[in-house]
Amino acid sequence: MYQKDLFKDKVALVTGGRSGIGYGIAKQYLDLGAKVFICSRKEEPLKKAAEELSVFGPVAYTPCDIRKTDQIKALAEKIQAEYGKLDILINNAGGQFPAPAEQISENGWAAVINNNLNGTFYVSQEMYKSFFSQQNHGIILNIIANMHRGFPGMAHTGAARAGVENLTKTLAQEWAQHNVRINAIAPGTIQSSGLDTYPEPMQKRFAEIVEHNLMKRLGTVEDVANATMFYTSELSSYISGTTLYVDGIEHLSGDRMGLIDTLRTFMK
Ligand SMILES: NC(=O)c1ccc[n+]([C@@H]2O[C@H](COP(=O)([O-])OP(=O)(O)OC[C@H]3O[C@@H](n4cnc5c(N)ncnc54)[C@H](OP(=O)(O)O)[C@@H]3O)[C@@H](O)[C@H]2O)c1
Repeated sequence: MYQKDLFKDKVALVTGGRSGIGYGIAKQYLDLGAKVFICSRKEEPLKKAAEELSVFGPVAYTPCDIRKTDQIKALAEKIQAEYGKLDILINNAGGQFPAPAEQISENGWAAVINNNLNGTFYVSQEMYKSFFSQQNHGIILNIIANMHRGFPGMAHTGAARAGVENLTKTLAQEWAQHNVRINAIAPGTIQSSGLDTYPEPMQKRFAEIVEHNLMKRLGTVEDVANATMFYTSELSSYISGTTLYVDGIEHLSGDRMGLIDTLRTFMK
Protein backbone atom coordinates (compact mmCIF):
# COMPACT_ATOMS: atom_id res chain seq x y z
CA MET A 1 0.00 0.00 0.00
CA TYR A 2 2.85 2.38 0.82
CA GLN A 3 5.99 3.08 -1.19
CA LYS A 4 8.69 0.55 -0.30
CA ASP A 5 11.20 3.24 0.67
CA LEU A 6 8.77 5.37 2.74
CA PHE A 7 11.00 5.05 5.84
CA LYS A 8 14.40 4.72 4.14
CA ASP A 9 17.18 5.93 6.52
CA LYS A 10 14.68 6.30 9.39
CA VAL A 11 15.19 4.71 12.80
CA ALA A 12 12.10 3.64 14.76
CA LEU A 13 11.86 2.47 18.38
CA VAL A 14 8.84 0.27 19.12
CA THR A 15 8.27 -0.42 22.82
CA GLY A 16 6.60 -3.77 23.40
CA GLY A 17 7.78 -4.74 19.92
CA ARG A 18 8.23 -8.42 20.75
CA SER A 19 4.55 -9.32 20.33
CA GLY A 20 1.14 -8.47 18.90
CA ILE A 21 0.56 -4.95 17.68
CA GLY A 22 4.13 -3.82 18.38
CA TYR A 23 5.57 -6.73 16.40
CA GLY A 24 3.25 -5.96 13.48
CA ILE A 25 4.30 -2.29 13.52
CA ALA A 26 8.00 -3.24 13.66
CA LYS A 27 7.54 -5.58 10.70
CA GLN A 28 5.85 -2.90 8.58
CA TYR A 29 8.67 -0.44 9.30
CA LEU A 30 11.18 -3.01 8.12
CA ASP A 31 9.12 -3.73 5.00
CA LEU A 32 9.13 0.01 4.26
CA GLY A 33 12.88 0.49 4.67
CA ALA A 34 13.35 1.60 8.30
CA LYS A 35 15.87 0.40 10.85
CA VAL A 36 14.08 -0.81 13.97
CA PHE A 37 14.84 -1.08 17.68
CA ILE A 38 12.48 -3.10 19.89
CA CYS A 39 12.31 -3.39 23.67
CA SER A 40 10.21 -5.12 26.30
CA ARG A 41 10.85 -6.75 29.68
CA LYS A 42 11.29 -10.47 28.93
CA GLU A 43 14.64 -11.04 27.23
CA GLU A 44 14.06 -14.48 25.66
CA PRO A 45 10.89 -13.70 23.68
CA LEU A 46 12.36 -10.33 22.79
CA LYS A 47 15.50 -11.93 21.36
CA LYS A 48 13.40 -14.46 19.45
CA ALA A 49 11.21 -11.72 17.98
CA ALA A 50 14.28 -9.71 16.94
CA GLU A 51 15.71 -12.80 15.22
CA GLU A 52 12.45 -13.40 13.35
CA LEU A 53 12.09 -9.76 12.35
CA SER A 54 15.70 -9.49 11.15
CA VAL A 55 14.67 -11.48 8.06
CA PHE A 56 12.92 -8.30 6.92
CA GLY A 57 15.64 -5.74 7.77
CA PRO A 58 17.96 -4.33 10.47
CA VAL A 59 16.64 -4.94 14.00
CA ALA A 60 18.31 -4.31 17.36
CA TYR A 61 16.85 -4.98 20.78
CA THR A 62 17.43 -4.58 24.47
CA PRO A 63 15.33 -5.49 27.49
CA CYS A 64 13.81 -2.40 29.07
CA ASP A 65 11.02 -1.85 31.57
CA ILE A 66 9.30 1.41 30.62
CA ARG A 67 8.56 2.05 34.32
CA LYS A 68 12.29 2.30 35.12
CA THR A 69 13.98 5.56 34.12
CA ASP A 70 17.52 4.15 34.52
CA GLN A 71 16.68 1.38 32.06
CA ILE A 72 15.17 3.89 29.62
CA LYS A 73 18.35 5.98 29.77
CA ALA A 74 20.40 2.86 29.01
CA LEU A 75 18.01 2.13 26.12
CA ALA A 76 18.65 5.59 24.63
CA GLU A 77 22.40 5.01 24.92
CA LYS A 78 22.09 1.69 23.11
CA ILE A 79 20.05 3.26 20.29
CA GLN A 80 22.70 5.98 20.00
CA ALA A 81 25.47 3.37 19.86
CA GLU A 82 23.61 1.18 17.35
CA TYR A 83 22.09 3.73 14.98
CA GLY A 84 23.37 7.17 16.05
CA LYS A 85 19.89 8.72 16.00
CA LEU A 86 16.17 8.14 16.53
CA ASP A 87 13.45 9.45 14.21
CA ILE A 88 10.30 7.72 15.46
CA LEU A 89 9.11 6.53 18.87
CA ILE A 90 6.12 4.18 19.11
CA ASN A 91 4.85 4.00 22.69
CA ASN A 92 3.08 0.66 22.37
CA ALA A 93 4.15 -1.24 25.51
CA GLY A 94 1.41 -1.59 28.06
CA GLY A 95 -1.07 -3.89 29.67
CA GLN A 96 -4.07 -4.13 31.95
CA PHE A 97 -6.45 -6.66 33.45
CA PRO A 98 -10.24 -6.74 33.46
CA ALA A 99 -12.00 -6.13 36.79
CA PRO A 100 -15.02 -4.27 38.10
CA ALA A 101 -13.78 -0.94 39.52
CA GLU A 102 -14.75 -1.84 43.09
CA GLN A 103 -12.47 -4.90 42.97
CA ILE A 104 -9.29 -3.20 41.71
CA SER A 105 -6.69 -3.22 44.52
CA GLU A 106 -4.43 -0.30 45.29
CA ASN A 107 -1.48 -2.24 43.81
CA GLY A 108 -3.42 -3.21 40.70
CA TRP A 109 -4.52 0.36 40.10
CA ALA A 110 -0.99 1.72 40.61
CA ALA A 111 0.55 -0.96 38.35
CA VAL A 112 -1.67 -0.11 35.37
CA ILE A 113 -1.31 3.65 35.79
CA ASN A 114 2.45 3.27 36.18
CA ASN A 115 2.78 1.13 33.07
CA ASN A 116 0.36 2.80 30.70
CA LEU A 117 0.61 6.45 31.74
CA ASN A 118 3.89 6.98 33.59
CA GLY A 119 5.91 4.62 31.38
CA THR A 120 4.74 6.40 28.24
CA PHE A 121 5.78 9.74 29.71
CA TYR A 122 9.19 8.49 30.91
CA VAL A 123 10.11 7.04 27.51
CA SER A 124 8.85 10.11 25.61
CA GLN A 125 10.77 12.51 27.85
CA GLU A 126 14.03 10.55 27.57
CA MET A 127 13.84 10.22 23.78
CA TYR A 128 13.00 13.92 23.46
CA LYS A 129 16.01 14.89 25.57
CA SER A 130 18.43 12.35 24.07
CA PHE A 131 17.39 12.69 20.43
CA PHE A 132 14.46 14.78 19.24
CA SER A 133 15.31 18.16 20.83
CA GLN A 134 18.92 17.89 19.64
CA GLN A 135 18.11 16.64 16.14
CA ASN A 136 15.33 19.20 15.79
CA HIS A 137 12.93 16.57 14.55
CA GLY A 138 11.08 13.57 15.86
CA ILE A 139 7.76 11.76 15.75
CA ILE A 140 5.97 10.13 18.67
CA LEU A 141 2.95 7.87 18.31
CA ASN A 142 1.12 6.72 21.43
CA ILE A 143 -0.93 3.53 21.19
CA ILE A 144 -3.78 4.08 23.64
CA ALA A 145 -7.25 2.45 23.66
CA ASN A 146 -10.82 3.25 22.85
CA MET A 147 -11.89 5.05 26.06
CA HIS A 148 -13.95 7.74 24.35
CA ARG A 149 -17.08 6.87 26.35
CA GLY A 150 -15.24 5.55 29.43
CA PHE A 151 -13.94 2.01 29.87
CA PRO A 152 -16.34 -0.02 32.06
CA GLY A 153 -14.51 -3.18 33.15
CA MET A 154 -11.05 -1.60 32.94
CA ALA A 155 -11.32 1.71 34.81
CA HIS A 156 -7.56 1.88 35.41
CA THR A 157 -6.56 1.61 31.79
CA GLY A 158 -9.35 4.00 30.71
CA ALA A 159 -7.98 6.60 33.13
CA ALA A 160 -4.37 5.96 32.10
CA ARG A 161 -5.12 6.14 28.37
CA ALA A 162 -7.19 9.31 28.81
CA GLY A 163 -4.11 10.71 30.57
CA VAL A 164 -1.93 9.76 27.60
CA GLU A 165 -4.40 11.34 25.20
CA ASN A 166 -4.16 14.61 27.12
CA LEU A 167 -0.37 14.26 27.34
CA THR A 168 -0.35 13.89 23.55
CA LYS A 169 -2.06 17.28 23.22
CA THR A 170 0.29 18.96 25.70
CA LEU A 171 3.54 17.59 24.29
CA ALA A 172 2.44 18.33 20.72
CA GLN A 173 2.34 22.00 21.70
CA GLU A 174 5.37 22.15 23.99
CA TRP A 175 7.69 20.24 21.67
CA ALA A 176 6.53 21.72 18.34
CA GLN A 177 9.37 24.24 18.75
CA HIS A 178 11.76 21.39 18.01
CA ASN A 179 9.72 20.04 15.11
CA VAL A 180 8.34 17.11 17.07
CA ARG A 181 4.92 15.74 16.14
CA ILE A 182 2.92 13.64 18.59
CA ASN A 183 -0.28 11.77 17.90
CA ALA A 184 -2.22 8.86 19.35
CA ILE A 185 -3.97 5.84 17.90
CA ALA A 186 -6.86 4.37 19.86
CA PRO A 187 -7.38 0.74 18.79
CA GLY A 188 -10.71 -0.93 19.40
CA THR A 189 -10.65 -4.68 20.01
CA ILE A 190 -7.73 -5.99 17.99
CA GLN A 191 -7.21 -9.68 17.29
CA SER A 192 -3.68 -9.94 18.72
CA SER A 193 -1.65 -11.79 21.34
CA GLY A 194 -2.88 -9.29 23.93
CA LEU A 195 -6.37 -10.83 23.75
CA ASP A 196 -5.03 -14.30 24.66
CA THR A 197 -4.16 -13.01 28.15
CA TYR A 198 -7.82 -12.53 29.08
CA PRO A 199 -9.67 -15.24 31.05
CA GLU A 200 -11.90 -17.85 29.35
CA PRO A 201 -15.32 -16.20 29.90
CA MET A 202 -13.93 -13.08 28.26
CA GLN A 203 -13.02 -15.01 25.13
CA LYS A 204 -16.76 -15.52 24.53
CA ARG A 205 -17.21 -11.80 24.94
CA PHE A 206 -15.05 -11.20 21.85
CA ALA A 207 -17.65 -12.99 19.70
CA GLU A 208 -20.29 -10.61 21.11
CA ILE A 209 -18.09 -7.65 20.24
CA VAL A 210 -18.01 -8.82 16.62
CA GLU A 211 -21.82 -9.08 16.70
CA HIS A 212 -22.20 -5.49 17.99
CA ASN A 213 -19.51 -4.01 15.74
CA LEU A 214 -21.00 -2.20 12.75
CA MET A 215 -18.25 -3.63 10.52
CA LYS A 216 -18.88 -7.12 11.95
CA ARG A 217 -15.28 -7.92 12.74
CA LEU A 218 -12.47 -7.35 15.23
CA GLY A 219 -9.54 -5.18 14.17
CA THR A 220 -6.30 -6.68 12.93
CA VAL A 221 -2.72 -5.89 13.83
CA GLU A 222 -2.32 -4.70 10.22
CA ASP A 223 -5.20 -2.21 10.68
CA VAL A 224 -3.24 -0.58 13.50
CA ALA A 225 0.12 -0.86 11.73
CA ASN A 226 -1.27 0.71 8.53
CA ALA A 227 -2.57 3.71 10.49
CA THR A 228 0.75 3.96 12.34
CA MET A 229 2.66 4.19 9.05
CA PHE A 230 0.47 7.11 7.96
CA TYR A 231 0.77 8.91 11.32
CA THR A 232 4.56 8.58 11.48
CA SER A 233 5.43 9.47 7.88
CA GLU A 234 5.53 12.71 5.93
CA LEU A 235 2.00 11.85 4.74
CA SER A 236 0.74 13.37 8.02
CA SER A 237 3.29 16.19 8.32
CA TYR A 238 0.69 18.85 9.29
CA ILE A 239 -1.06 16.69 11.92
CA SER A 240 -0.11 16.74 15.61
CA GLY A 241 -1.89 16.47 18.96
CA THR A 242 -4.69 14.28 17.58
CA THR A 243 -6.15 10.83 18.22
CA LEU A 244 -7.15 8.45 15.45
CA TYR A 245 -9.63 5.70 16.30
CA VAL A 246 -8.86 2.39 14.61
CA ASP A 247 -11.86 0.61 16.01
CA GLY A 248 -14.55 -0.08 13.41
CA ILE A 249 -16.58 2.87 14.85
CA GLU A 250 -16.73 1.31 18.34
CA HIS A 251 -16.02 4.66 19.99
CA LEU A 252 -19.38 5.87 18.68
CA SER A 253 -21.57 2.81 18.56
CA GLY A 254 -20.02 -0.10 20.47
CA ASP A 255 -21.56 -1.76 23.53
CA ARG A 256 -19.59 -0.30 26.46
CA MET A 257 -21.35 -2.23 29.24
CA GLY A 258 -20.93 -5.72 27.77
CA LEU A 259 -17.48 -6.26 29.31
CA ILE A 260 -18.53 -5.32 32.83
CA ASP A 261 -21.69 -7.46 32.51
CA THR A 262 -19.51 -10.44 31.52
CA LEU A 263 -17.10 -9.81 34.41
CA ARG A 264 -19.94 -9.70 36.92
CA THR A 265 -21.02 -13.20 35.87
CA PHE A 266 -17.77 -14.76 37.15
CA MET A 267 -16.09 -12.19 39.46
CA LYS A 268 -18.36 -11.96 42.49
N1 LIG B 1 -5.25 -5.90 21.49
C1 LIG B 1 -6.16 -4.99 21.71
O1 LIG B 1 -7.37 -5.21 21.50
C2 LIG B 1 -5.76 -3.64 22.23
C3 LIG B 1 -6.72 -2.62 22.24
C4 LIG B 1 -6.38 -1.37 22.71
C5 LIG B 1 -5.10 -1.11 23.17
N2 LIG B 1 -4.18 -2.12 23.16
C6 LIG B 1 -2.83 -1.80 23.67
O2 LIG B 1 -1.93 -1.92 22.58
C7 LIG B 1 -0.64 -2.33 23.08
C8 LIG B 1 -0.22 -3.64 22.41
O3 LIG B 1 -1.21 -4.61 22.66
P1 LIG B 1 -1.11 -6.13 22.20
O4 LIG B 1 -2.48 -6.58 21.97
O5 LIG B 1 -0.09 -6.26 21.15
O6 LIG B 1 -0.63 -6.80 23.57
P2 LIG B 1 0.65 -7.66 23.97
O7 LIG B 1 0.97 -8.68 22.95
O8 LIG B 1 0.41 -8.08 25.38
O9 LIG B 1 1.82 -6.58 23.92
C9 LIG B 1 2.22 -5.79 25.00
C10 LIG B 1 3.72 -5.64 24.89
O10 LIG B 1 4.16 -4.67 25.85
C11 LIG B 1 5.28 -5.19 26.55
N3 LIG B 1 5.27 -4.56 27.87
C12 LIG B 1 4.28 -4.58 28.79
N4 LIG B 1 4.64 -3.89 29.88
C13 LIG B 1 5.90 -3.42 29.64
C14 LIG B 1 6.83 -2.66 30.40
N5 LIG B 1 6.56 -2.23 31.64
N6 LIG B 1 8.02 -2.35 29.84
C15 LIG B 1 8.32 -2.78 28.59
N7 LIG B 1 7.50 -3.51 27.84
C16 LIG B 1 6.30 -3.83 28.37
C17 LIG B 1 5.08 -6.70 26.57
O11 LIG B 1 6.30 -7.43 26.68
P3 LIG B 1 6.89 -7.93 28.11
O12 LIG B 1 5.77 -8.56 28.85
O13 LIG B 1 8.02 -8.85 27.77
O14 LIG B 1 7.38 -6.67 28.78
C18 LIG B 1 4.47 -6.94 25.20
O15 LIG B 1 5.47 -7.10 24.22
C19 LIG B 1 -0.80 -2.46 24.59
O16 LIG B 1 -0.46 -1.26 25.22
C20 LIG B 1 -2.29 -2.74 24.73
O17 LIG B 1 -2.78 -2.47 26.01
C21 LIG B 1 -4.47 -3.37 22.70
